[in-house]
Amino acid sequence: MDITSFLRDNNLSTPFFALSSIVFLLLIIKLAKPASLKKLPPGPPGLPIIGNLHQVGDRPHVSTAKFAKEYGPLISLRLGKQILVVASSPEAAKEILKTQDRFLSSRVVPTAFQQPSLIPHSVIWSDCNQTWKSLRTLCRTELFSAKALESHSRLREQKLSHLLDFLHKKQGQVMNLEDVVFITLFNTLTSIIFSRDFLDLKDVHGTRDGLNESLHKIIEYGGIIKDFGSFFPIFERFDLQGIRKGTMRQYKKTFAYWEDIIEERRAHVNSPTWSSENAQSFLDRMLENNFSNDQINQLVTELFVAGTNTTTSSVVWAMTELVRHKEVMSKIAEEIKREIDTDKINDSQLSKLPYLQASIKEAMRLHPPVPLLLPHMAAETCEVMNYTIPKNSKIFVNLWAMGRDPKVWDDPLSFKPERFIGSKLDSKGQDFELLPFGSGRRMCPGMPSGIKSVQLILASLIREFDLVLPNDVDPMKLDMSDKFGIALKMEKPLKVIFKSKQEHE
Ligand code: HEM
Repeated sequence: MDITSFLRDNNLSTPFFALSSIVFLLLIIKLAKPASLKKLPPGPPGLPIIGNLHQVGDRPHVSTAKFAKEYGPLISLRLGKQILVVASSPEAAKEILKTQDRFLSSRVVPTAFQQPSLIPHSVIWSDCNQTWKSLRTLCRTELFSAKALESHSRLREQKLSHLLDFLHKKQGQVMNLEDVVFITLFNTLTSIIFSRDFLDLKDVHGTRDGLNESLHKIIEYGGIIKDFGSFFPIFERFDLQGIRKGTMRQYKKTFAYWEDIIEERRAHVNSPTWSSENAQSFLDRMLENNFSNDQINQLVTELFVAGTNTTTSSVVWAMTELVRHKEVMSKIAEEIKREIDTDKINDSQLSKLPYLQASIKEAMRLHPPVPLLLPHMAAETCEVMNYTIPKNSKIFVNLWAMGRDPKVWDDPLSFKPERFIGSKLDSKGQDFELLPFGSGRRMCPGMPSGIKSVQLILASLIREFDLVLPNDVDPMKLDMSDKFGIALKMEKPLKVIFKSKQEHE
């Protein structure tokens, strides 16, 4: 029987046939959909076009933690055209950063950093390609190996001494802890890279030359959450929010700051009398490796952006918790008094301070400086916990949610360094409950330096000063709200009065 007689015999009209054909076609399309769209991790329903954009807010570590409570440890959201997958349990983190690390270690480049002349030289934003490998190797050898750390220890101790002397002179005055720690860390890094200080503790806002301000603006642009170009790629090239343009303006100001130093050292390195033993700084090593100005500018800015804010954030959050928990502060002070008998604390003595180390881990558990890691991207479609992660999805690991999960930690919201005493749990990327530096191939290469600086600064401040809050503020009433960005900051910076201790001398 042909189709026309079938319709006529069954009294089926042509419109009905048209409708059923459409339904049939839709069914085929649905069945033929790529597997990737069939088994996405669960997540809250979104709106047409914008998806879940309106539900993410300014503190994505908090909003996605809430979704994880409802939908489970692996969720997916749609932000415009972009699929975002968020892992919020140690098991899910392990799958992403270990089991499927090979496929999930590319990067989504925020609009701020999409600068065509610079991005090919990036260590943070490159996929895991040859450039990325050689930059990480250079940084490891020259900056973060045990030998490199040892060779920079004098510099680190010297910058710390400047900070302590400065605070002794300023005792009794209200200080912003973040400002002075940032300048100390920044000068340590510029001394390693360029053999000189760039900022001045006496000029905390960097008003003299604007460098401090430019760097903070770059960091702010990089941390913008509502980056619409990345949600709707058709708008990407127009830079409607001015993010790319604004970052480039700040980049240019920043690069101009060290341009002459590069030229001066390039002349030395290219002179016929140059020998490797003359190298004084990381800049000399980059020049020996024939780095162009673009390559130097990019790597140096990335080290500043990735290294100084994260370390400052770790010191400030830890100190804030210690100010709130006087008994912990006193125990650390006792430990230091018992274990250290030299005038200044040095790198090699830090291993004698396990309670200080436990307190830092505890602060990083509650306030991970990079709460979602940097955005990873799926280079290939792959499976995680029986769900499909489509190629090009953006991936976050929510350290903040994991650190506060009662399924992972007893009494998770209390600050109790004792939980790490006698525990093998470490923060160096092997234990997926506590990953302040990430894990796997994208793990922070600066971890050894970051850990040393945080320990050294905290130990020295606690040894030499009592910290008092201005206006008799009750420490337990301090505003602990955080502000999302490249590094997690306190919404209201910690202002303290340093009072010199009399006894340790
Ligand atoms: C306590 C201090 C620090 C913390 C908590 C921290 C944390 C992190 C985290 C979570 C990541 C991202 C890992 C991922 O995406 O999976 C990262 C990446 C990175 N960090 Fe750190 N970091 C610290 C200090 C430093 C320092 C001192 C430097 C260098 C001076 C540095 C340089 C980098 C670089 C270059 C990357 C990118 C690595 C890549 O993409 O391959 N970090 N860091």
